[in-house]
Order: sequence, then structure tokens, then C-alpha cells
Amino acid sequence: MAKGLDVGTMNIISAQQDGSETVFVQQRNSFVEIDYSDMAEQMLSRSDVLHIRKDNNVYVVGDDALNFATIFNSETRRPMERGILSSDESSAIPMIKLITEQVVGEPSTPGERLYYSSPADPIDSDLSTLYHQKTLESMLGDVGYDPEPINEGMAVIYSELADNNFTGLGVSFGAGMTNICLSYYAVPVMKFSIARGGDWIDEQTAQATGTPVDKVTSSKEDDFELDFRTDVGGVEGALAIYYENLLDYVIDNIAREVDEEDVEENLDVPVVVTGGTSSPRGFEKLFEDHLRDADIPFSISEVRSVEDPLYSVARGALVAARSDEQEQEGQGQHAEESVRPATED
Ligand SMILES: Nc1ncnc2c1ncn2[C@@H]1O[C@H](COP(=O)(O)OP(=O)(O)OP(=O)(O)O)[C@@H](O)[C@H]1O
Ligand SMILES: [Mg+2]
Repeated sequence: MAKGLDVGTMNIISAQQDGSETVFVQQRNSFVEIDYSDMAEQMLSRSDVLHIRKDNNVYVVGDDALNFATIFNSETRRPMERGILSSDESSAIPMIKLITEQVVGEPSTPGERLYYSSPADPIDSDLSTLYHQKTLESMLGDVGYDPEPINEGMAVIYSELADNNFTGLGVSFGAGMTNICLSYYAVPVMKFSIARGGDWIDEQTAQATGTPVDKVTSSKEDDFELDFRTDVGGVEGALAIYYENLLDYVIDNIAREVDEEDVEENLDVPVVVTGGTSSPRGFEKLFEDHLRDADIPFSISEVRSVEDPLYSVARGALVAARSDEQEQEGQGQHAEESVRPATED
């Protein structure tokens, strides 16, 4: 067995194979701190709410954090920001550890192979992903896995472009970041991230319209469409403006990076857009229209969106983990075969 894990700014999702089905387990990457005395002891001990008690506080983590925050009139916090562990949040590591352990569970065999997603270094900020990547590696190793990082954009290629020999451009529009990877026969030719995603859209819209950011996020996730017909001056109008601005920013950066990396000009590749931020109806079309207008030195055969944009990265990490595992098994067999004649002699 092998597993895939998407460690995202908003969602942590594991994937594993069960017969012909891929099974996903998901939790929000968030927590809320509640005063212990406010909380009826039994309320937590009798439930399956994920929590930790520390001194006089209780931390409720994952999907339940938002409900508890509403009940206790408190705010949720996030262990990650802009794609990596948050440096402003001293509780980040124990919280993300608890969520991750719940989502991946115990390894089914000691040292089970697990690929976990990690963003590429952003080109528009000096954040480094190394500390984040190494911290997760040791956390997952402690649980008993044999962890291996996989670039988030590359995971999209594994998940969505198997039918095109793992060749194309994968773009994951997440909460904290946008990750981009150009792959040629499963070899990453160019990969980078941009430190903007859904959170940036929400923050800008909240600021422009004077609306609380949580309210903006829920209007965005609930039936928002990129049709540019409604609500000039309202939240949806502002969301559309910042969506379009994010797309242009991402496309400009793709054009610039392709140019700098000297990517071969006679490529003709598909582009896949995924990640939670690509969910609204109209996103794929808007991205395609703007991409076709951009000055990209290779040709784009098609722009695809995916059915479950939240699951692409976890699925791709699983594909990579399984193929690595099979390769190792194959090598093991091969080694045995080549050893056998020698021992028989
Ligand atoms: N139906 C929807 N419509 C619009 N946006 C959505 C929808 N569902 C989720 N989102 C947004 O998608 C983002 C979360 O997507 P995703 O889970 O792919 O990100 P992540 O992997 O957690 O973050 P990152 O990759 O940046 O670390 C959030 O900004 C969320 O508000
Ligand atoms: Mg992501």
C-alpha cells in the first residue's frame, strides 16, 4: 500500500486506493482556542471532535473548529499561511500534526511509502519552502511513514495528464498559493509558485467592500459565478474583479518564466486548471480566454478543468507514491532474480 497527502493552506487531504476506488479523507487546516472552563468536559470527551488540551485551554482542530468558533464567539486560526507553515503562529506545528495524523491514519505496514505535496518556492516573495517541507517530513516519519515530498504542480500532472504521457502545464489554484508546473514526459521542465490564491482574493474583496473576510469567503464558495453580469459594487462584483486580476497575474508570470527558462518553442501542450479556487463556473473559460491573449511562446492544445478540483493534488501524490512503490517492488524482484542464479551455482 502507499498513500498520497495534500498539505494545503486550507485543506489537508489524504488519498489511498481501495480496490478500484480512491478514498479521500479531508480536514480543514484550522483550529480554535477555547478557554477550558467554558467547555463542558463531557462535550469533548464523549464526542469524536479532534482536540488537544494544553494548560487552561482547549484547541479544537479541523472541520469542527469553525462550529466551535461560532458557538464560543471566537476566531479560527490557521497553522499555514501562503502555502507554508505560518511563522506568526506558535501553535502551528502541534495543530497541523494532529490534523495530519487524523487524515493519514497509521501506516498499514511499517515504513509505508507516502508522498506529500509541497509548494515550489514562490517567485514573488522571499518565502522559502524548505523549513516547511523538512518539518512535515520529520512529522510524517515519526508517525511511521517513509515520506517523500512531491511538488504540488507535478502532483496535478500525475493526477490529470496520464492520458497525455504526463506532458502539459498543471496549475493548482489553492488558498494560499498558485502552483505551476510544466512537465514533459513526467519530467518537470519548469516549476514555481505565486504567493497568491483564494485567500488573497478574499482579503482584497473584504478590504474593497468593507465586508468581513469570512463572509466574503462564504459568498465566494456559495454559488458565485464568473459571469461578470451581476452585482456591480457588491461583494460578487469585487470578487470577479480580483479573480480576473489573479488570473492575469498568474498568466503574466507564466509567460515571463517560460521566457526565462528557454522552454522549447514548438511544444503543443494541454493546460489543466485545478485547486479549490478554480471551482466557480466560468473560471476555466476566463482563464482560457486570457491565456490565449497572452504572449506564450508555445502552443496550447486545450485548457481543461477537472471534476473534483479539491482532490487533484492528493490523487496525484497517490499516483506518484504507488508508482514508486511498484518500482521498488520490481527492483526487489529483479534483484532476487539476479541473485538466484549466483546462489545456485
Ligand atoms: N466552490 C468554491 N468556489 C470558490 N472558491 C472555492 C470553492 N471551494 C473552495 N474554494 C476556495 O479554494 C481555496 C481552497 O482550495 P485548495 O483546497 O485547493 O487550497 P489548499 O490546497 O488548501 O491551499 P494551497 O495549495 O494554496 O496551500 C480556498 O480559497 C477556498 O475559499
Ligand atoms: Mg493546494
